Amino acid sequence: MKGRNSRLLTSVVEAIGNTPTVELSRITSGLEGRIVAKLDYLNPGFSKKDRIARKIIEEAETDGVLSSGQTVVEATSGNTGTGLAIVCAVKGYQFVAVMSKGNSPERAQMMRALGAEVVLVDQAPGSSLGQVSGSDWELVEKATQDIVRERTAFRADQFHLEGATRAHYLNTAREFIEQTSGQIHAFCDFVGTSGTFAGCAAAFKDHDARIRCYLIEPAGAAVLAGKPVTNASHQIQGGGYSMAALDFLKPEYIDGYIQIDDKTAYETTRFLARKEGIFAGFSSGANVAAAIHLLRGPMRGKTVAVVICDSGLKYLSTDLWS
Ligand SMILES: Cc1ncc(COP(=O)(O)O)c(C=O)c1O
Repeated sequence: MKGRNSRLLTSVVEAIGNTPTVELSRITSGLEGRIVAKLDYLNPGFSKKDRIARKIIEEAETDGVLSSGQTVVEATSGNTGTGLAIVCAVKGYQFVAVMSKGNSPERAQMMRALGAEVVLVDQAPGSSLGQVSGSDWELVEKATQDIVRERTAFRADQFHLEGATRAHYLNTAREFIEQTSGQIHAFCDFVGTSGTFAGCAAAFKDHDARIRCYLIEPAGAAVLAGKPVTNASHQIQGGGYSMAALDFLKPEYIDGYIQIDDKTAYETTRFLARKEGIFAGFSSGANVAAAIHLLRGPMRGKTVAVVICDSGLKYLSTDLWS
């Protein structure tokens, strides 16, 4: 792998990806097996979604579906929007981020600072701040479609454009394989669009069909596992939208389902900061919690790979760190 620090880059866009992977040996003390964590909060926008922002825009340029001067629009929980704001700033596109008021405000501030226009959408009746439900997401989707139509914009559609999963197939998983010399037995991932899970699972299984891939959902909103929704308003921002159909998911990628509750996600995120010095968000805590669950169960003695999705700085206004 060509390290991003080994040459002069032409823009910050080239600094996306090639993140370090570390073994979480403090958290796994007393357990048999390893957790290897990819530090994607070290991307320029402090999340893994920088990768897909770059890929979607570059593929759209190559395919001729995004032309110079055209506005880019996307619905976001903040991270894809930040990645798109960075890529669009560098490449000179106007970018409009459409986000629920339920997501933490520092995300909107950061996108605005990067030159994006941020449209905040009211939450559905009964929803609470910091908890973005499937109904909240539907309202964001509707507002996004309206803006795309009004402005004849390019929709950087993270739920449907292949770049959103190809970025992880071509890069994230390949980096994992190189950095661990292929010594990975399982992968687990908290799913939003499923781009990360599907892209990594496909690459891992191409590399070694025995690698087990586990899909993580919030407890109480595990529709992909076929369970009834009893708590759509969970606190694990970035996913768990209770969508029964996701474009990138294929049954052959999924070896099992894991549910993580809010309390476990909170505690593991805090533990990750205190024990490993990794300052990350809720979904990273959910990923690590699921990996611990696997080491206590079917993956005992094995190596489980997880992505550290975004930075804890994105949650300073929530009660995560209080
Ligand atoms: C913090 C965070 N975690 C997890 C996810 C889910 O990732 P994916 O959309 O690749 O399934 C997202 C997606 O936006 C995210 O922002």
